[in-house]
Amino acid sequence: MKRVIKKLSYPGFFISFEGGEGAGKSTQIRHLVAFFKKNNLPVELTLEPGGTPIGKKVRELLLDPKNTALTHRAELLLYLADRAQHVEEFILPALKAGKIVITDRYADSSNVYQGICRKLGLDETMKLNDFATQNLYPDLAIILDLPVKMGFDRMRQRVLDRMEREKASFHQQVRKGFLHLSQKYPKRIQVVNAAQSEDQVQAEIARLILARIKKTKGTTLWKKLAP
Ligand code: TYD
Repeated sequence: MKRVIKKLSYPGFFISFEGGEGAGKSTQIRHLVAFFKKNNLPVELTLEPGGTPIGKKVRELLLDPKNTALTHRAELLLYLADRAQHVEEFILPALKAGKIVITDRYADSSNVYQGICRKLGLDETMKLNDFATQNLYPDLAIILDLPVKMGFDRMRQRVLDRMEREKASFHQQVRKGFLHLSQKYPKRIQVVNAAQSEDQVQAEIARLILARIKKTKGTTLWKKLAP
């Protein structure tokens, strides 16, 4: 069946951050939230899995290293259940209220981790994402791209969760998967080289986002940002 995506309209602006492990998403998201706050713009920061009270329970199931019996299909459906709840309870109402919503991971993580790396199929995960999200996709998805070894070196102090314990070859596929998606959907998805300095990454992200806000939200948000 052909995917027909009718874009939802709302006054807010929706950004997702994606990428492999240890790429510095949380640091960069923090900088971006501070930037919007400084400009007096209403911003909500959220994450997947676990952006709602129900989602937090789903997150525990998904990331607990003891759950080695979880099948790939069940894993995908749990990420999608978390997302369906997240969209309806939190993201969509915030966008309709005119807020900027930044999510740490969203639909492209399922496309890459489950669709490509777990081999459940990109077409399948895209269709299921359409259903789970009510066709709500970010105005811009930013992928922080980093060589796998650099990402894991940055995480050396951390206790690894169920997904992070996958083999290095799995994480190589994650990186390739995100790059593949960005080539397939160059308008919706932008890649930022996360091996640059923190300041450089921050500047590049701000440039991409401001350009997109200017282009798509000319009358509302951009006016508040433009000098
Ligand atoms: P998390 O602790 O939120 O960390 P980070 O985003 O910093 O990696 O871990 C979420 C994990 O879940 C991460 O390994 C990616 C994985 N994931 C999927 O496999 N599919 C999905 O749809 C989502 C949202 C995440």
